[in-house]
Amino acid sequence: MKILVTGGAGFIGSNVVDAYIEAGHDVVVVDLPTCRRENVHPKAKLYLADIRSKDLADIFAEERPDVVNHHAAQKSVPKSVQDPELDADVNILGLLNILQNSVRVGVQKVIFISSGGALSGDSSIVPTPEDIDPIMISPYAISKYVSEKYLYFYHVTHGLRYTSLRYANVYGPRQVPEGESGVVPIFMANLLDGRPSTLRSYADMPRGTTRDYVYVGDVARANVLALDKGDNQALNIGSGIELYIEDIYHAMEDVVGVQIPLIRASERVGDVRRSVLDCTRAKRELGWEPRTDLREGLRKTYEYFRQA
Ligand SMILES: NC(=O)c1ccc[n+]([C@@H]2O[C@H](COP(=O)([O-])OP(=O)(O)OC[C@H]3O[C@@H](n4cnc5c(N)ncnc54)[C@H](O)[C@@H]3O)[C@@H](O)[C@H]2O)c1
Repeated sequence: MKILVTGGAGFIGSNVVDAYIEAGHDVVVVDLPTCRRENVHPKAKLYLADIRSKDLADIFAEERPDVVNHHAAQKSVPKSVQDPELDADVNILGLLNILQNSVRVGVQKVIFISSGGALSGDSSIVPTPEDIDPIMISPYAISKYVSEKYLYFYHVTHGLRYTSLRYANVYGPRQVPEGESGVVPIFMANLLDGRPSTLRSYADMPRGTTRDYVYVGDVARANVLALDKGDNQALNIGSGIELYIEDIYHAMEDVVGVQIPLIRASERVGDVRRSVLDCTRAKRELGWEPRTDLREGLRKTYEYFRQA
């Protein structure tokens, strides 16, 4: 099968490309000229282009992929709050450019990447299933939600099949320790450099907020299974395990073999207090379950950061 992966030089997208190539597929990557090319598997063909650009039409016409896997995004929640127009431009108009070109060249299926955490907000149902009324507290969440509505429209109108994979907090090799990337790479970089990390928490939640952490290798496997399963629906992809941020930090201290006390600070405005996904639908529809427990995932992440 020929698969076009947008954002295939990024953290998760590049791991998905590796899994597709390992499963014997032909892979074409579309990513920005500023992307991390070193992440792209040598057997994948790389096009440097913006998903919003007119160049996409030529790429689709030339490659005629069977499946499009869409990981490219404006992925920062705070940036979406500061600049909702940019967020909608990349995440909504970029998706429409992909969908229009998909219909034009006869793509069979689009695998779209959504966010379970962003769409559940502070839901009172924990673990949160897919069919809650989403509470959206950022333009990022709104753009992911609207994207799923467009996918449904293209399915009923043009017969384009889709699966929306709603990720929990993904961690693992190639994640970058910068502001928006979640705590694992930031804590890991600090522990390796002997620097203290900051735990932001609500006064009544001293161990921090809770999150659902899923290893990127397991996420990549869900993308392989979604090639021919789980059509026309949204599926949560997470561990289903609720962890306090402080507990993750201590697990990382064990893996790295150092102990550095945390600096405690007040919460970030808008931080969701509890977040964990109910992933029973992915198990039923894809036959998918995470296989990598936190310790093993953190060990693999540590090996990557040590050698990077
Ligand atoms: N990291 C997580 O925990 C998480 C959780 C939920 C959802 N997601 C979603 O997963 C996807 C991948 O996230 P990631 O963490 O791997 O991010 P990432 O930044 O590592 O990867 C995104 C890639 O998309 C590319 N890109 C961005 N804008 C583009 C554009 N206009 N045209 C072409 N390419 C563009 C970037 O260059 C980058 O290589 C995103 O859709 C994100 O919203 C991530």
